[in-house]
Amino acid sequence: MAVSGGAAQDLPAKLTAQVLICSIIAAFGGLMFGYDIGISGGVTSMDVFLKKFFPDVYVKKHHAKEDNYCKFDDQILQLFTSSLYLAAVVSSLFAATCCKKYGRKLTIQIASALFLVGVILNAAAMNIVMLILGRLLLGGGIGFGNQAVPLFISEIAPNKYRGGLNVCFQLLVTVGILCANIVNYFTASHQYGWRISLGGAAIPALFLAFGSLLIVETPTSLIERGHSERGLETLRKIRGVQDVQKEFDEIVNTTELAKQIKHPFKNLMKRSSWPQLITSGVLQIFQQFTGINVIMFYAPVLFQTMGFHSDASLLSAVVTGTINTIATLVAVFCVDKLGRRFLLIEAAVQMFIAQVVTGGILAAFLKSTNALPKKYAYLVLFLICVFVSGFAWSWGPIGWLIPSEIFPLETRTAGFFCAVSMNMIFTFIIAQAFLTMLCHMRAMIFFFFSGWIVIMGIYAFAFLPETKGVSIDEMNEKVWKKHWLWKKCFNNDRDQSRDKP
Ligand code: BGC
Repeated sequence: MAVSGGAAQDLPAKLTAQVLICSIIAAFGGLMFGYDIGISGGVTSMDVFLKKFFPDVYVKKHHAKEDNYCKFDDQILQLFTSSLYLAAVVSSLFAATCCKKYGRKLTIQIASALFLVGVILNAAAMNIVMLILGRLLLGGGIGFGNQAVPLFISEIAPNKYRGGLNVCFQLLVTVGILCANIVNYFTASHQYGWRISLGGAAIPALFLAFGSLLIVETPTSLIERGHSERGLETLRKIRGVQDVQKEFDEIVNTTELAKQIKHPFKNLMKRSSWPQLITSGVLQIFQQFTGINVIMFYAPVLFQTMGFHSDASLLSAVVTGTINTIATLVAVFCVDKLGRRFLLIEAAVQMFIAQVVTGGILAAFLKSTNALPKKYAYLVLFLICVFVSGFAWSWGPIGWLIPSEIFPLETRTAGFFCAVSMNMIFTFIIAQAFLTMLCHMRAMIFFFFSGWIVIMGIYAFAFLPETKGVSIDEMNEKVWKKHWLWKKCFNNDRDQSRDKP
């Protein structure tokens, strides 16, 4: 999710231990994010947890006559999962300002403090209010973390390692989800299992809190806030060479230019920003409408709906989590070779087939009160793995990568903020609506998502330009101005004059 920086010029720089350690510490923000995505589904399928906080859902779930598809339909239960993303949208607005005014390091520290208080409230929760409050604080932490960490990594990474570090952040998100699935599996039958699961988030949160005391502030942020001397010193330290004048001058120029833009958000509304704004927004919406978070949040619940027992459901979530992580590695190695469009289109076909066949099987064999015959349940598990792997090497990482590489410098941070918020808003919508949609639409829900997948496949094929191998400072010239549709946004003389800062 890192915001990629400028062209891969030959600036003298080593990949120093400083940069590696600081990036790893910061990337724990990604692990934190992933852990929170993965933990709620398992916890909300634990009986002890349901009995304590959602007794109605518990009764419904164990009621023999209860409709399979509606067992878990409960607005407050969904709020437990979704509240985090609502808080993340709101807090990322503050985080963007904090990042600019007080630096990336402090923003990461605030993120870890919010995480820690949130984790304590969650693990010690005595009532639903404590539980939701804890989720809101975790969401606050995610808003701060997701805004600052990618920016932080991209600013300290030497140019040529920036792309790899970018997808590695998403890799850590998937590792976080997997860890959560494994923890849920082992704690499920324990009386205080849910407390252990929710409290487990303290490990990455503590690591981030202590680690954030050790990390450096980025040279860009120091220079931006008027501490040029310290900026130069830090640059020498993280690059491991004395001769950093060229990069230093570049950062100074960049920040000077950025300072002339008084209203980056207004700049973002210009016609010549539409291609990037529309593309990044649409990619984020599409990413969520693949239905991926139905699996990430509610896999255990979904597998129970299909008739798996509690343990088998959690184990299935571990399987999908493992596939998610491994398939993300494919993206790390292929995204610069095969290109973004190829992966997005291939995965759209793959995800479409998986969703349609899943929907067909459930429509044919999962009625209101029966259990899905075992062989079909395993087939559905396999199809879900096919779906998840397609997502993990395409719309997952590329959904973040493209918004981070297509904006020109003057709108980059504001543009990336819009992308993060769009993602959080649509994640919230899916988290809040899915269980109700499942209850009303039943197996049709899979056809609903597959319909979206057709639209996004067509979009990638017809409207998305390839950005592989293009330096981000040349995107406008080499990509957008050459595209059959988007070039029209640059042909307007009136707009050209407004283009100037
Ligand atoms: C998405 C998350 C999703 C995760 C799954 C990310 O790219 O933004 O919403 O849960 O991928 O790995």
